[in-house]
Amino acid sequence: MKVTVVGAGAVGASCAEYIAIKDFASEVVLLDIKEGFAEGKAMDLMQTASLNGFDTRIIGTTGDYSKTAGSDICVITSGIPRKPGMTREELIGINAGIVKTVSSSLVAHSPNTILIVVSNPMDTMTYLVHKTTDLPKSRIIGMGGALDSARFKYRLAEALGAPISDVDGMVIGGHSDKGMVPLTRLATRNSVPVTEFISQDRLDQVLEDTKVGGATLTKLLGTSAWYAPGAAVSGLVQAIACDQKKMFPCSTLLEGEYGLNDLCIGVPVILGKNGIEKVVEIELSEGEKAHMNESAVGVSKTNGLLDL
Ligand code: LAC
Repeated sequence: MKVTVVGAGAVGASCAEYIAIKDFASEVVLLDIKEGFAEGKAMDLMQTASLNGFDTRIIGTTGDYSKTAGSDICVITSGIPRKPGMTREELIGINAGIVKTVSSSLVAHSPNTILIVVSNPMDTMTYLVHKTTDLPKSRIIGMGGALDSARFKYRLAEALGAPISDVDGMVIGGHSDKGMVPLTRLATRNSVPVTEFISQDRLDQVLEDTKVGGATLTKLLGTSAWYAPGAAVSGLVQAIACDQKKMFPCSTLLEGEYGLNDLCIGVPVILGKNGIEKVVEIELSEGEKAHMNESAVGVSKTNGLLDL
């Protein structure tokens, strides 16, 4: 199992670290355009191998895509991150050009790869990868919902005063502050609906905190978050690499599912060795449907800014 991570910034390096620590891949290639940067991060990470007990070999390269050849999975984290006060959508101008070049170069060297898109605005960048490459839709996956769901569970556990392992919940829709659709109706504490434990007011606060999860961190850190994004990516990579058939909300090209067409947006999918093996269509309430449609309008509007 060979995995490439493009972008050796904080998110890319965290992806590489979490993938290596889980020790299921033989090789992780870290690629960046900044001279020596990926090589340095790879070397630093390799010097944790004996300490953290993994055998994954991490190598770094400054822009040499031949080193990525034959990758089973490639993760695109490259592009500029958000600064405090910015929306993910504002990054489109610069990031679209980068994602186009990166995805074409990756596929040229690994025609059978599965691509995971992390760069923002993520749903639109995932759509752009469909337009740029001729990979089947099962092999183009946008990472957003797994991260947003982790943030949702964190906030739910906090509100419930419960350990996170007791809590389950999922966020679908677009990976944007307004676009996220947290499915509170289905959120549980050890299979009991969370609404049994907390008031609607407290739940509304959880929803609000979840939606601005990324923005809150950007404000605190001065740039976009990396630990949870890296961990979320490593979860998707592991599900594919180990053919786990796990369900995650991911951004995928919809062709009629959820009544939506010609856009990538977060819905539950099954991930296995073939990438997205199934889009899971769950029955949404009228309110959730309306919220999902509104979210889709927002994503399509951002897609309209692409120079296709
Ligand atoms: C975030 C970025 C990865 O939500 O979109 O932190």
